[in-house]
Amino acid sequence: MHRTHTCGELRIEDKGKQIILSGWVQRIRDKGGLIWLDLRDRYGITQLLLEEGRSNASVIEAARDLGREFVVKIKGKVIERQSKNPNMPTGDIEIDLESIEVLNKSKTPPFTIEDNTDGGDELRMKYRYLDLRRQPLRRNLELRNRLSIETRKYLDSEKFFEIETPYLIKSTPEGARDFVVPSRMNQGQFYALPQSPQTFKQLLMVAGYDRYYQLVKCFRDEDLRADRQPEFTQIDCEMAFVEQEDILNTFEGLIRYLFKTIKNIDVPVLPRMEYADAMKLYGSDKPDIRFEMKFVELNDLAKNKGFKIFDEAGLVVGINAEGCANYSRKQLDKLTDFVRRPQIGAKGLVYVKYNEDGSFKSSADKFYSQEDLKSWAEKFGSKPGDLMLVLSGEADKVRKQLSELRLEMGNRLGLRNPDVFAPLWVVDFPLLEWDGETERYHAMHHPFTSPKPEDIAMLDSKPGEVRANAYDLVINGTEIGGGSIRIHDRGLQKLMFKHLGFSEEEAQEQFGFLLNAFEYGAPPHGGIALGFDRLVALFGGSDSIRDYIAFPKNNSGRDVMIDSPSTISNEQLDELMLMLK
Ligand code: AMO
Repeated sequence: MHRTHTCGELRIEDKGKQIILSGWVQRIRDKGGLIWLDLRDRYGITQLLLEEGRSNASVIEAARDLGREFVVKIKGKVIERQSKNPNMPTGDIEIDLESIEVLNKSKTPPFTIEDNTDGGDELRMKYRYLDLRRQPLRRNLELRNRLSIETRKYLDSEKFFEIETPYLIKSTPEGARDFVVPSRMNQGQFYALPQSPQTFKQLLMVAGYDRYYQLVKCFRDEDLRADRQPEFTQIDCEMAFVEQEDILNTFEGLIRYLFKTIKNIDVPVLPRMEYADAMKLYGSDKPDIRFEMKFVELNDLAKNKGFKIFDEAGLVVGINAEGCANYSRKQLDKLTDFVRRPQIGAKGLVYVKYNEDGSFKSSADKFYSQEDLKSWAEKFGSKPGDLMLVLSGEADKVRKQLSELRLEMGNRLGLRNPDVFAPLWVVDFPLLEWDGETERYHAMHHPFTSPKPEDIAMLDSKPGEVRANAYDLVINGTEIGGGSIRIHDRGLQKLMFKHLGFSEEEAQEQFGFLLNAFEYGAPPHGGIALGFDRLVALFGGSDSIRDYIAFPKNNSGRDVMIDSPSTISNEQLDELMLMLK
C-alpha cells in the first residue's frame, strides 16, 4: 500500500493514528537534535518529525540522505504539533516518523518548488512539470477544473448538448491568421486549424441540435499578450429558435451560477450598455465599470479661447480624478509621460487642479480664466480637492488614449480590486468596421452576424452606422465573450457578402458549404463563445491566462519545454511536398 491518506488530509482528530503517506520531499530542516521534513503531494503538505534520541537512528540516517524532490513513502504516527501553523490545513499536526522508503531519487531541481519560488519565467516554463508541483499553480488548475465542471453542469441542466467538432478544417472567419497543417494524402493542400467552431456550430443548428456547446480548443496565429494564447479554450455555444434576449439571459444565468457556486458571490442583474455609449463614456468597447470616472466632453467650453491645440482638435475630453488635486509636479509629469508613451501616443496632457480653497490651477492657465475652469469643474461634477485630466485630438484616437489614462488612474487609486467583479453586456456593436489598410469595410464580428433589421436600409448609404445583433460579455475591463444572432436567410447573407467585398465566387469558395446548408431549412439561430482561460484567470484574480493553462506557450509562441515549433526532417518535408528552397 502506498498511502492511507494524502498529504493534505490529516487533522488533529486523527491524532494517534498510524498512517502511510507518499509524496515529494519539499523541504528538510535539520536542527541537529530535531529534523523536520515537509512532504508534498497534490492535496497539500504534511510536516514529518524526527527527534534524536527518540526516533530510530537508522530512520534519522535515511532522512539525512534525502534530497529535495525525492519521492518517498513514509510510515508514522499522527501527533499534535508543539507550535501550530494556522496557515496550513494540516498545521495542527505532524507525523512522528517511523520509516522512510525512497521510491525514487531526484536531481536537485533548478528552482525551489515552494509557494514563492526563486525561478525566473523562462526557467519555470522549461521545467513546467516542476512548476506545476507548486501549490499556487495546482490551485489554478483546480479552479479551472471546477469551472469546467460547473459550466457543464449548468449547460446540461439547460438542455445543451456537448458535441465535438473537427480540428482539421478549412479557414474560419474570425479574422486572425490561421495555423495550417499540410496534408500528405492531398499533396500541396492544407487543413486549417479552427479559430473557432463557428461554421460547424451553425451547421449543427441546421441539423436540428438546437442547443449546442463545447469546451473547445481554438487556434489563432496572432500577436500574443497576457490575455492571448495561440491555442486557447472557449465555452462555445449556439442556440436555435432564439432571439438575442434569450441568449443574453441564458449566459447571464451561467455567469451568475458560476459566481455563486464557485465564489459565493451574488452577481446582480447585468447592466447593458450600447457600444456607442461605451465608446463615448469610457473610450472602450470593454469598459471596466468597477469605477465611474466617466468621460466628460469639453468642446463647447474649451475651444475658441485661443489655445491652439484644443482649437484644432476634433475632441477635447477628460476625466475627473477624485481627491488628486494634491498631485505633485513629479506625479503629474509621470502621468504626462504615461500618455506620451508610443503605445498610447497622446501629445500631451492638460491638468486642472481644483484646490481645496476653491481656486483652480491648470497647465493651460494662460488661456483659461478661473471662471472658465469653474465651468469645466461644473461639467465634470468636480469637488474641491479633485484633479481634472484633459486630452485632445482626433475623436477616436483621443478616446482610446483617455481610456488608458482612466485605467491607469483606476490602478493608482486602487479602484480595480480583483476581488470585486463588475460584469456587463455591451450590445449593438457596429456591423462593419472600416479598415484603412485595405480601404474597405470588414465584418466587425464575422460575416454571419445579422444586422439590426431597422438598420438594413443604411447598408448602402451609411454602412459604418449599421448596428448588428452582436454583443460582448465584459467583466472588469476584459472581453470575456462575444456572440451574435446569425443571418439565416440566404438573400441577406448574399447582400452581406456583397458589402464585405466578396464576389459570388469567393463567397462560394470559402463558405459554400454553409450557404448550401442554409438552403435546407436553417432555423433562426445565434450564439456566443466565452474565453474559458480568461474566465478562469478572472476568477483567480489575475490578468494573465498563462498561469491557468497547464502547458502554455511563451510570448514568442514557443513551448520551451518541448522546444516547439521545431524543424522537421527532410523525409517529412519530402513526403509533404514542402521542400524548403
Ligand atoms: P470571439 O472571436 O470574440 O468570438 O472569441 C470569443 C472569446 O474567446 C476569447 N479569445 C481568446 N482567449 C485567449 N486567447 C486568444 N487568442 C483569444 N481570442 C479570443 C475571448 C473572446 O471574447 N465564434 C465567435 C463566437 C460567436 O459568435 O458565437 C468567436 O470566436 O474571451
